[in-house]
Amino acid sequence: MGAGRGTWGTRLGFYLAAIGSAFGLGNIWRFPYIVSENGGGAFVLLYVFLVFILGMPLLVGELILGRTTRSGVMRAIDIVLEDHKNSPNQSRVSKMKWLGIGSVVLCLIVLAYYAVISGWVLHYLTQLSMALIVNVSFEADQSLKLLLENGWLQVLLTSVHLLVVIVIVAKDVEEGIEKAVGYMMPLFVILLIGLAIKSLSLESAPNALRFFLYPDFSSLTLESLGQAVGHVFFTLSIGFGMMVTFGSYLSDRAYIPIAGFRVATMDSFISIFAGVLIFPLVMVGTAPVSGPEMLFRSVPKLFQTISNGYLFGVGFFVCLYLAALGASIGLLETIVSNARESLGFRRVRAVWVSGGACFILALLPALSTSVFQEIHIGGQGFLEFLDGLLINWGLPVAALITSQVVLYLVSDAQKKQAFELNSEEHHSSEKIYGHWIFALRWLVSPVILLALVLQVFAIFKR
Ligand code: PFF
Repeated sequence: MGAGRGTWGTRLGFYLAAIGSAFGLGNIWRFPYIVSENGGGAFVLLYVFLVFILGMPLLVGELILGRTTRSGVMRAIDIVLEDHKNSPNQSRVSKMKWLGIGSVVLCLIVLAYYAVISGWVLHYLTQLSMALIVNVSFEADQSLKLLLENGWLQVLLTSVHLLVVIVIVAKDVEEGIEKAVGYMMPLFVILLIGLAIKSLSLESAPNALRFFLYPDFSSLTLESLGQAVGHVFFTLSIGFGMMVTFGSYLSDRAYIPIAGFRVATMDSFISIFAGVLIFPLVMVGTAPVSGPEMLFRSVPKLFQTISNGYLFGVGFFVCLYLAALGASIGLLETIVSNARESLGFRRVRAVWVSGGACFILALLPALSTSVFQEIHIGGQGFLEFLDGLLINWGLPVAALITSQVVLYLVSDAQKKQAFELNSEEHHSSEKIYGHWIFALRWLVSPVILLALVLQVFAIFKR
């Protein structure tokens, strides 16, 4: 969306852009590996449950905050605080200001490590394209070894990715690209289903499906709730202020609850398909694969064995790269639009300054499997540690504060307006509004707080 604050030309435009930004590495790369770390089916069930009771209410809340203030998260908070400037607990309320700043800082750090993984995707895309076009041999394990041992290669790939994102956002064509990602998504889903069918024909499939879908609650740990909560927010892009920016472009007539429902269900479906594809592949060998490398250790091997594998491989990684690109654009655009609105930066300057900051921040995760491989924090490599810190701690806290802002600082009249019937959609909006407020008040905060407390216990138990 351009410099002036317009609204989405069509409803489809909003969906394509919102789904284009929500759908990304979180669905295909991160979801399977955290499911694997948390014992499979029970975690999947927990995740799906949380999408509905936490994810959707908060997604709707962020969209409403954006639409009522017509601003990105930093200015949106200023605006709602302005309305409460004479309230008796003003000094407590004004601390909410930190939410805006915190969300944008989260975007910056997440973009930095997201760019590193996007670089990994580019690596496989290049390797498989070379195998397809110039017949260079492709060996999945060798490719991964090359990547992990060669930190500077990761730095190079990361900078290529960041440069692409910077150029797109600086030229102000991101809406077009995000829409393109949205259009590409059905193609990706078809490809995923095709590959999943292939994967289901493997001998390991029954065991893999049992692991992925059969809920064995005894395999959950104290940290599982926090991991599931964090992942729901990450995959739906909640707590970053991105959906606030998107909401600010929604027309007054858009029926927000349905928008939230559609984005959340589409996103979850894709994650489930990714799991069905990946688990049979992961369980082929004797030693189970896990951790951030899981996707890259398993799926490329499939392309080595099936007919026309390299062609499918290139297709898969092109789609995955576009998904990573759409999400990265969403992250940088959120940082840039907030910097412009609240700090008065010009667009191009904001893009280069934040892109440059991301690059510097990305050096550490990019070098974490080579130069800094000795760095371990709490038994984890640096990349995993950073991922956990941001997603299992930072996002739940940001989401918790967001829920309070929406509940207590956005007026009831403004909230109700988002649930009003319009001529196109007929719903019993009173009832839905009641459920939504109930979820925000009685489910979101208690569940997030419980998740945080359990994680603290887990640290002390270690
Ligand atoms: N939701 C994206 C994913 O699942 O990969 C990640 C993301 C994109 C988070 C954009 C936040 C954001 F603003």
